Amino acid sequence: MPTITAAGKTFPCETGANLRRALLDNGIDLHNGQAKLINCRGIGSCGHLRPSGLNGETSPRNWRENQRLAFPPHRRETSSHKRLACQTRIFGNVTVTKYTGFWGQDDTIRWGPDSAAG
Ligand code: FES
Repeated sequence: MPTITAAGKTFPCETGANLRRALLDNGIDLHNGQAKLINCRGIGSCGHLRPSGLNGETSPRNWRENQRLAFPPHRRETSSHKRLACQTRIFGNVTVTKYTGFWGQDDTIRWGPDSAAG
C-alpha cells in the first residue's frame, strides 16, 4: 500500500488513489486563502491544488494539467515539475510540497513533506 507524506503527516492510501481526495480525507488543507471556497472541486480547471515536488510513483501528467499549468497565473517555464492534486493518482510512496499564491502559483513553499501546514 503506498504512503503519502505531506504537511508533517505520513499515511497510507489505496493504490491508484486520487491525491486530492487522499489529502483532504487526512485533514490536509490544500487551499490557499479563499481558494477554499471557490475551487473547481477536482475537475482540473482552477489550478488551486498544486502540490509539487511529488517524489514517487504517480500517474503521468495529463492534458488538463498541461493546459492549466501553462496558463496564467501559472507559467509554463516554472510549472514543468508541478502537478494538480485532483488529477494525480498515487501508485507508490510520494512526498508532497505545497506552494503559496492564491492559485498556488508562487515559488515559496507553504508546507513541505515534513513541515505542518501554516
Ligand atoms: S481542484 Fe481545481 S484544478 Fe484541481
